[in-house]
Amino acid sequence: MKLLEGKNAIVTGGSRGIGESIVRAFVAQGANVLFTYRSSADRANTLAEEMSASGQKVLAVQSDASSFAQAEQLIKKTTEEFDTIDVLVNNAGITKDNLMLRMSEEQWDQVIDINLKSVFNLTKHAMRSMLKAKAGSIINISSVVGVFGNAGQANYAASKAGIIGFSKSIAKEVGSRGIRCNVLAPGFIATDMTDELDESTKKTYTDAIPLKRFGQGQDVADTCVFLGSDMSTYVTGQVISVCGGMNI
Ligand SMILES: NC(=O)c1ccc[n+]([C@@H]2O[C@H](COP(=O)([O-])OP(=O)(O)OC[C@H]3O[C@@H](n4cnc5c(N)ncnc54)[C@H](OP(=O)(O)O)[C@@H]3O)[C@@H](O)[C@H]2O)c1
Repeated sequence: MKLLEGKNAIVTGGSRGIGESIVRAFVAQGANVLFTYRSSADRANTLAEEMSASGQKVLAVQSDASSFAQAEQLIKKTTEEFDTIDVLVNNAGITKDNLMLRMSEEQWDQVIDINLKSVFNLTKHAMRSMLKAKAGSIINISSVVGVFGNAGQANYAASKAGIIGFSKSIAKEVGSRGIRCNVLAPGFIATDMTDELDESTKKTYTDAIPLKRFGQGQDVADTCVFLGSDMSTYVTGQVISVCGGMNI
Protein backbone atom coordinates (compact mmCIF):
# COMPACT_ATOMS: atom_id res chain seq x y z
CA MET A 1 0.00 0.00 0.00
CA LYS A 2 1.39 3.38 -1.01
CA LEU A 3 1.38 6.12 1.64
CA LEU A 4 -0.91 8.52 -0.28
CA GLU A 5 -3.02 5.94 -2.14
CA GLY A 6 -6.44 7.39 -3.00
CA LYS A 7 -5.62 10.87 -1.67
CA ASN A 8 -6.08 14.07 -3.69
CA ALA A 9 -3.53 16.84 -3.32
CA ILE A 10 -2.94 20.42 -4.44
CA VAL A 11 0.65 21.70 -4.65
CA THR A 12 1.25 25.36 -5.46
CA GLY A 13 4.39 26.14 -7.47
CA GLY A 14 4.89 22.58 -8.66
CA SER A 15 6.64 23.34 -11.95
CA ARG A 16 10.19 23.57 -10.58
CA GLY A 17 12.41 23.04 -7.55
CA ILE A 18 10.97 21.78 -4.28
CA GLY A 19 7.39 21.85 -5.62
CA GLU A 20 8.32 19.61 -8.55
CA SER A 21 9.95 17.14 -6.12
CA ILE A 22 6.77 17.15 -4.02
CA VAL A 23 4.63 16.46 -7.10
CA ARG A 24 6.90 13.55 -8.09
CA ALA A 25 6.94 12.08 -4.57
CA PHE A 26 3.16 12.41 -4.12
CA VAL A 27 2.48 10.71 -7.45
CA ALA A 28 4.99 7.95 -6.59
CA GLN A 29 3.03 7.40 -3.35
CA GLY A 30 -0.29 7.03 -5.17
CA ALA A 31 -1.87 10.50 -4.96
CA ASN A 32 -3.82 12.39 -7.60
CA VAL A 33 -2.20 15.81 -7.86
CA LEU A 34 -3.25 19.19 -9.19
CA PHE A 35 -0.30 21.55 -9.18
CA THR A 36 0.08 25.19 -10.14
CA TYR A 37 2.68 27.34 -11.82
CA ARG A 38 2.95 31.04 -12.59
CA SER A 39 4.81 31.21 -15.93
CA SER A 40 6.61 27.90 -16.70
CA ALA A 41 3.79 26.48 -18.84
CA ASP A 42 5.91 24.14 -21.00
CA ARG A 43 7.75 22.72 -18.03
CA ALA A 44 4.55 22.25 -16.02
CA ASN A 45 2.67 20.57 -18.86
CA THR A 46 5.59 18.22 -19.58
CA LEU A 47 5.71 17.24 -15.91
CA ALA A 48 1.94 16.64 -15.78
CA GLU A 49 2.13 14.48 -18.90
CA GLU A 50 5.05 12.46 -17.52
CA MET A 51 3.33 11.96 -14.14
CA SER A 52 0.02 10.97 -15.78
CA ALA A 53 1.73 7.79 -17.03
CA SER A 54 1.20 6.57 -13.43
CA GLY A 55 -2.51 6.20 -14.23
CA GLN A 56 -3.40 8.75 -11.55
CA LYS A 57 -4.89 12.14 -12.34
CA VAL A 58 -2.12 14.78 -12.54
CA LEU A 59 -3.05 18.26 -13.72
CA ALA A 60 -1.01 21.44 -14.21
CA VAL A 61 -2.92 24.71 -13.85
CA GLN A 62 -1.66 28.26 -14.36
CA SER A 63 -2.76 30.19 -11.25
CA ASP A 64 -1.18 33.11 -9.41
CA ALA A 65 -1.18 32.07 -5.75
CA SER A 66 -1.12 35.71 -4.63
CA SER A 67 -4.53 36.36 -6.22
CA PHE A 68 -7.52 35.75 -3.96
CA ALA A 69 -9.86 35.43 -6.97
CA GLN A 70 -7.58 33.00 -8.82
CA ALA A 71 -7.23 30.86 -5.68
CA GLU A 72 -11.02 30.67 -5.47
CA GLN A 73 -11.23 29.55 -9.11
CA LEU A 74 -8.45 27.02 -8.54
CA ILE A 75 -10.21 25.39 -5.61
CA LYS A 76 -13.47 25.34 -7.59
CA LYS A 77 -11.67 23.53 -10.44
CA THR A 78 -10.03 21.11 -8.01
CA THR A 79 -13.33 20.13 -6.41
CA GLU A 80 -14.77 19.57 -9.90
CA GLU A 81 -11.83 17.29 -10.78
CA PHE A 82 -11.46 15.54 -7.42
CA ASP A 83 -14.12 14.58 -4.84
CA THR A 84 -12.06 15.78 -1.90
CA ILE A 85 -8.99 17.87 -1.14
CA ASP A 86 -7.04 15.67 1.26
CA VAL A 87 -3.71 17.52 1.18
CA LEU A 88 -2.89 21.15 0.42
CA VAL A 89 0.77 22.10 0.07
CA ASN A 90 1.37 25.84 0.00
CA ASN A 91 4.81 25.84 -1.61
CA ALA A 92 4.86 28.74 -4.10
CA GLY A 93 7.38 31.36 -3.08
CA ILE A 94 9.90 33.93 -4.27
CA THR A 95 12.77 36.04 -2.96
CA LYS A 96 13.43 39.73 -3.65
CA ASP A 97 16.46 40.30 -1.43
CA ASN A 98 17.77 43.71 -0.47
CA LEU A 99 19.10 45.54 2.55
CA MET A 100 16.39 47.52 4.35
CA LEU A 101 17.71 50.93 3.24
CA ARG A 102 17.44 49.85 -0.40
CA MET A 103 14.32 47.67 -0.22
CA SER A 104 11.48 49.08 -2.30
CA GLU A 105 7.82 48.98 -1.37
CA GLU A 106 7.31 46.77 -4.43
CA GLN A 107 9.93 44.23 -3.22
CA TRP A 108 8.19 44.11 0.15
CA ASP A 109 4.67 43.79 -1.28
CA GLN A 110 5.53 41.14 -3.90
CA VAL A 111 7.20 38.85 -1.38
CA ILE A 112 4.43 39.22 1.21
CA ASP A 113 1.72 38.67 -1.41
CA ILE A 114 3.26 35.61 -3.08
CA ASN A 115 4.71 33.96 0.03
CA LEU A 116 2.18 34.82 2.76
CA LYS A 117 -1.09 36.09 1.33
CA SER A 118 -1.08 33.03 -0.97
CA VAL A 119 -1.22 30.76 2.09
CA PHE A 120 -4.31 32.61 3.33
CA ASN A 121 -5.88 32.53 -0.16
CA LEU A 122 -5.52 28.79 -0.71
CA THR A 123 -6.25 27.75 2.88
CA LYS A 124 -9.40 29.87 3.06
CA HIS A 125 -10.85 28.50 -0.16
CA ALA A 126 -9.84 24.86 0.49
CA MET A 127 -11.20 24.96 4.05
CA ARG A 128 -14.88 24.50 3.13
CA SER A 129 -14.17 21.21 1.35
CA MET A 130 -11.95 19.96 4.21
CA LEU A 131 -14.53 20.92 6.84
CA LYS A 132 -17.20 19.03 4.92
CA ALA A 133 -14.97 15.94 4.78
CA LYS A 134 -13.89 16.46 8.43
CA ALA A 135 -10.35 15.67 7.25
CA GLY A 136 -7.38 17.33 5.61
CA SER A 137 -3.69 18.02 5.93
CA ILE A 138 -2.34 21.49 5.18
CA ILE A 139 1.42 21.76 4.74
CA ASN A 140 2.89 25.24 4.54
CA ILE A 141 6.44 25.70 3.29
CA SER A 142 8.23 28.27 5.42
CA SER A 143 12.03 28.49 5.87
CA VAL A 144 14.62 28.41 8.63
CA VAL A 145 14.98 32.12 7.75
CA GLY A 146 11.45 32.62 9.12
CA VAL A 147 12.69 31.40 12.51
CA PHE A 148 16.16 33.00 12.66
CA GLY A 149 15.94 35.97 10.28
CA ASN A 150 18.60 36.81 7.70
CA ALA A 151 20.30 40.10 6.80
CA GLY A 152 19.04 41.29 3.40
CA GLN A 153 15.89 39.21 3.61
CA ALA A 154 13.59 41.15 5.97
CA ASN A 155 10.68 40.80 3.51
CA TYR A 156 11.26 37.06 2.99
CA ALA A 157 11.85 36.35 6.71
CA ALA A 158 8.68 38.28 7.64
CA SER A 159 6.63 36.30 5.11
CA LYS A 160 8.02 32.98 6.33
CA ALA A 161 7.58 33.87 10.03
CA GLY A 162 4.01 34.93 9.23
CA ILE A 163 3.36 31.46 7.82
CA ILE A 164 4.33 29.93 11.17
CA GLY A 165 1.90 32.06 13.23
CA PHE A 166 -0.83 31.51 10.64
CA SER A 167 -0.35 27.73 10.65
CA LYS A 168 -0.36 27.37 14.44
CA SER A 169 -3.57 29.42 14.56
CA ILE A 170 -5.23 27.26 11.89
CA ALA A 171 -4.12 24.08 13.71
CA LYS A 172 -5.91 25.36 16.85
CA GLU A 173 -8.96 26.59 14.94
CA VAL A 174 -9.78 23.43 12.99
CA GLY A 175 -8.05 20.59 14.86
CA SER A 176 -11.36 19.54 16.39
CA ARG A 177 -12.74 19.17 12.84
CA GLY A 178 -10.10 16.62 11.81
CA ILE A 179 -7.92 19.08 9.89
CA ARG A 180 -4.18 19.29 10.56
CA CYS A 181 -1.89 22.15 9.66
CA ASN A 182 1.90 21.95 9.84
CA VAL A 183 4.89 23.96 8.70
CA LEU A 184 7.92 22.62 6.94
CA ALA A 185 10.99 24.82 7.27
CA PRO A 186 13.70 23.93 4.74
CA GLY A 187 17.28 25.10 5.13
CA PHE A 188 19.34 25.51 1.96
CA ILE A 189 17.94 23.31 -0.80
CA ALA A 190 19.54 23.11 -4.26
CA THR A 191 17.02 24.78 -6.59
CA ASP A 192 16.90 27.78 -8.96
CA MET A 193 16.25 29.94 -5.87
CA THR A 194 19.59 29.09 -4.21
CA ASP A 195 21.45 28.84 -7.52
CA GLU A 196 21.47 32.65 -7.49
CA LEU A 197 23.96 32.61 -4.57
CA ASP A 198 27.64 33.09 -5.45
CA GLU A 199 30.09 30.22 -4.84
CA SER A 200 31.75 31.77 -1.77
CA THR A 201 28.36 32.32 -0.08
CA LYS A 202 27.40 28.73 -0.87
CA LYS A 203 30.66 27.53 0.73
CA THR A 204 30.08 29.64 3.86
CA TYR A 205 26.59 28.17 4.26
CA THR A 206 27.74 24.61 3.55
CA ASP A 207 30.49 24.89 6.19
CA ALA A 208 27.83 25.90 8.75
CA ILE A 209 25.57 22.93 8.00
CA PRO A 210 26.34 19.87 10.18
CA LEU A 211 25.51 17.50 7.27
CA LYS A 212 27.92 19.54 5.06
CA ARG A 213 25.71 19.80 2.00
CA PHE A 214 22.73 21.64 0.60
CA GLY A 215 19.55 19.54 0.73
CA GLN A 216 17.74 18.17 -2.31
CA GLY A 217 14.10 18.73 -3.22
CA GLN A 218 13.54 15.06 -2.43
CA ASP A 219 14.60 15.66 1.20
CA VAL A 220 11.74 18.16 1.60
CA ALA A 221 9.31 16.06 -0.44
CA ASP A 222 9.83 12.99 1.76
CA THR A 223 8.78 14.98 4.85
CA CYS A 224 5.76 16.31 2.93
CA VAL A 225 4.75 12.71 2.17
CA PHE A 226 4.90 11.97 5.91
CA LEU A 227 2.82 15.07 6.80
CA GLY A 228 0.29 14.38 4.06
CA SER A 229 -0.11 10.72 4.95
CA ASP A 230 -1.84 8.85 7.74
CA MET A 231 1.63 8.28 9.28
CA SER A 232 1.26 11.73 10.90
CA THR A 233 -2.36 11.76 12.10
CA TYR A 234 -1.35 13.03 15.59
CA VAL A 235 0.98 15.74 14.30
CA THR A 236 -0.39 19.28 13.98
CA GLY A 237 0.75 22.85 14.60
CA GLN A 238 4.40 21.82 14.29
CA VAL A 239 7.34 23.43 12.56
CA ILE A 240 9.51 20.67 11.14
CA SER A 241 12.93 21.73 9.91
CA VAL A 242 14.57 19.95 7.00
CA CYS A 243 17.89 21.74 7.09
CA GLY A 244 20.79 19.35 7.64
CA GLY A 245 20.96 20.49 11.27
CA MET A 246 21.81 24.14 10.52
CA ASN A 247 19.34 25.26 13.23
CA ILE A 248 21.11 23.54 16.16
N1 LIG B 1 15.41 26.53 -2.09
C1 LIG B 1 15.61 26.75 -0.81
O1 LIG B 1 16.73 26.70 -0.30
C2 LIG B 1 14.45 27.06 0.11
C3 LIG B 1 14.71 27.16 1.48
C4 LIG B 1 13.66 27.43 2.35
C5 LIG B 1 12.38 27.59 1.85
N2 LIG B 1 12.15 27.51 0.51
C6 LIG B 1 10.79 27.71 0.05
O2 LIG B 1 10.38 26.59 -0.71
C7 LIG B 1 9.44 27.00 -1.70
C8 LIG B 1 9.92 26.55 -3.06
O3 LIG B 1 11.20 27.11 -3.31
P1 LIG B 1 12.13 26.66 -4.54
O4 LIG B 1 13.52 26.82 -4.11
O5 LIG B 1 11.67 25.38 -5.08
O6 LIG B 1 11.79 27.85 -5.59
P2 LIG B 1 11.91 27.87 -7.18
O7 LIG B 1 12.83 26.81 -7.67
O8 LIG B 1 12.20 29.30 -7.52
O9 LIG B 1 10.40 27.51 -7.66
C9 LIG B 1 9.35 28.34 -7.30
C10 LIG B 1 8.04 27.74 -7.72
O10 LIG B 1 6.98 28.61 -7.29
C11 LIG B 1 6.20 29.01 -8.41
N3 LIG B 1 5.66 30.34 -8.21
C12 LIG B 1 6.32 31.49 -8.00
N4 LIG B 1 5.46 32.51 -7.85
C13 LIG B 1 4.21 31.98 -7.97
C14 LIG B 1 2.90 32.51 -7.92
N5 LIG B 1 2.68 33.82 -7.72
N6 LIG B 1 1.85 31.67 -8.08
C15 LIG B 1 2.05 30.35 -8.29
N7 LIG B 1 3.27 29.80 -8.35
C16 LIG B 1 4.33 30.61 -8.20
C17 LIG B 1 7.13 28.92 -9.61
O11 LIG B 1 6.37 28.83 -10.80
P3 LIG B 1 7.05 29.16 -12.25
O12 LIG B 1 7.95 27.99 -12.58
O13 LIG B 1 5.91 29.26 -13.20
O14 LIG B 1 7.82 30.42 -12.08
C18 LIG B 1 7.90 27.64 -9.25
O15 LIG B 1 7.13 26.49 -9.54
C19 LIG B 1 9.33 28.52 -1.56
O16 LIG B 1 8.22 28.85 -0.77
C20 LIG B 1 10.63 28.89 -0.87
O17 LIG B 1 10.50 30.10 -0.16
C21 LIG B 1 13.17 27.25 -0.37
